[in-house]
Amino acid sequence: MTAAIHPSELLHLRAAGVSLVVDLGGGTLPRILHWGADIGDLDGSALESARLAWDVVPHGFPVDGQVEVAVLPQESAGFLGTPGLVGSRAGQDFSTLFAVRSWDVETAPDGTQRLTVHAADDAARLALVLVLELTAQGLVRQQAVLTNEADDAFGVDGLLLTLPVPAVATELLDFTGRWARERSPQRTAFTHGTRLRENRRGRTGYDAAFVLVAGTAGFANRTGEVWGVHTAWSGNHRSLAERSHYHPGLLGGGELLGSGEVRLGRGESYTSPWVYGSWGVGLDALAGRFHSWMRARPQHPRSPRPVTLNTWEAVYFQHDLGRLTALADAAAEVGAERFVLDDGWFGGRRDDSRALGDWYVSAEVWPDGLHPLVQHVTGLGLQFGLWVEPEMVNPDSDLARAHPDWMLRVPSRLPREARHQQVLDLAVPEAYAYILDRLDALLTEYPIGYLKWDHNRDLVDAGHGGAPGVHGQTLAVYRLLDELRSRHPGVEIESCSSGGARVDLEILQRTDRVWASDCIDAYERQQIQRWTNLLIPLELVGAHIGSGTAHSTGRRHDLSFRAATALFGHLGVEWDLQEADETQRADLAAWIALYKDVRGLLHSGTAVHADVVDPALAVHGVVAQDRGDALFAVTMTDRSTSTALPRVTLPGLDPDALYNVRPQAPGDRVDHAPAWWTSDGVRLPGRLLSGVGIEAPGQLPERIALVRATRV
Ligand code: DGJ
Repeated sequence: MTAAIHPSELLHLRAAGVSLVVDLGGGTLPRILHWGADIGDLDGSALESARLAWDVVPHGFPVDGQVEVAVLPQESAGFLGTPGLVGSRAGQDFSTLFAVRSWDVETAPDGTQRLTVHAADDAARLALVLVLELTAQGLVRQQAVLTNEADDAFGVDGLLLTLPVPAVATELLDFTGRWARERSPQRTAFTHGTRLRENRRGRTGYDAAFVLVAGTAGFANRTGEVWGVHTAWSGNHRSLAERSHYHPGLLGGGELLGSGEVRLGRGESYTSPWVYGSWGVGLDALAGRFHSWMRARPQHPRSPRPVTLNTWEAVYFQHDLGRLTALADAAAEVGAERFVLDDGWFGGRRDDSRALGDWYVSAEVWPDGLHPLVQHVTGLGLQFGLWVEPEMVNPDSDLARAHPDWMLRVPSRLPREARHQQVLDLAVPEAYAYILDRLDALLTEYPIGYLKWDHNRDLVDAGHGGAPGVHGQTLAVYRLLDELRSRHPGVEIESCSSGGARVDLEILQRTDRVWASDCIDAYERQQIQRWTNLLIPLELVGAHIGSGTAHSTGRRHDLSFRAATALFGHLGVEWDLQEADETQRADLAAWIALYKDVRGLLHSGTAVHADVVDPALAVHGVVAQDRGDALFAVTMTDRSTSTALPRVTLPGLDPDALYNVRPQAPGDRVDHAPAWWTSDGVRLPGRLLSGVGIEAPGQLPERIALVRATRV
């Protein structure tokens, strides 16, 4: 990790195999000349030569000479793509030319190299602070703060921060989705034009771009150079990939602002979301930088991730002390460590049509409060967790009846309902204070170790005081979470949003887990969890073992497929265990015991995904940081068209080390065992295992075999 500044104002930041060369010459906003593979320790003249070698002088339009594209691209530089800043004072000052007043580079104690640039456009009377970081893990992050320095208001319509990608990146990958099918990948060609992914849901969204990746032709899990951006924002946002005849390519992101949503008075500032960039060879390398950066954060959960019993698919709204204590008993018997009481415990909430907002324990269902259940659960040695949906209100609630003006709306009408609910306007100070007070009171009265924080609708017509309100709402939610965490520092919070519709790095700065999807069908989860893991490390991804028949799809799977799928995450159980027979409970206990045994590995190691040519077969796993231990899942998702399966590689092992490779119980029952599938397994070098591969165990579709590799 080094930062070198050269007299010509070329800055070279290096960390973990990544180089970032930033041109600060000429007094204009920083331009990134190279983001990608480490180019070595170049001295000043070598770097100056590199700049000359990289100089682009387009032959022709749009302007005479070079178009210098800053991280916040400006039309004044001759850039005619999507502008970095869109805004005006009622039409005036629509185009900016920022001049750099000062900049400095510092290295934070965690190794992050941070460039801070102070710039201003005196004619437009705007000031800009740009922060560009290269973290110790080689992740790039950018944020901008724009300040109005004049009396007349400046309306911000959009602020976009970008990173350049070279012309060799010819393919794009991003994500879409729907309820119970989040983060579905889509590949397109990266051609001239703009691929713009806009999200107007008022929450991160099932169908968010998530990570927008550009890569060399055919890039895959382990091959091809890839550059990816993530716009870390839980409200409306956009991510784009843009290429034109005079610029090889940009990836960018920012908040999506409504008309009139941000108006800056004199001295007021707008702060953009952080936009992250990760480069690597293969998607695993790109993901690895996100994971290792997240793991290095001080607030990252470091205690073993407790096995969770969630009551939702076990009892839904049928809250009954006897039934729930019996469920807790069964959960404790199989090894659960946390018991989460889901929706249905408060006010008149007997179904999903009413009472959101009435955050008082239902006297009808819980005459003695939650105390008898909490005492029972904690008496069994389990932590108690509680479901809440603080940002929502049902029109059929005491809260809505008392404060009909506390909802996001346009003045003349209420938004259309979704799941019978409206959104509480947290930018109304009294509404915010009420919710903070209710949550604080619950966390004070009960020994609650965990909140499952839900958010079950998109924001539609979400106005505050007649103007768009999503920006203010998003900030208010962040404030609320921050305030609660500072009052109750021991409480962990899960970000849930009708499943996985709020999964982003900004919500995860103040939460400890995401609920990846309401779909716990293990077949669907193969995809949902695989792609969630492109950004989020496994220990933060909630993954539950459901009942034999998946509630969301009706598919039936045996326990081993369900458990081996949920194992690669933060494991939980969401199943009415009183329906399970003794054999099933014993099998479940064995899987939970395995999870406890390997969670240290899974939650600190490197996630790897093999590139397998047969679409019916998949291999993924986790390799310890010292590469001494690894666990792999060999998954048959479908019936192969070949009777002889291809050899499968076990990626990420130390090529020079010898490994003992063997089946891992209880995931060792396969349909057609290869010769090496014995309890002793085989001894083979990492180079062979990761590079050439071995015969895959033969399995019926929708089965998983677990393979353990330990260094001899
Ligand atoms: C949606 C969540 O994703 C589910 O897990 C459950 O908590 C329900 N909401 C409860 O209403």
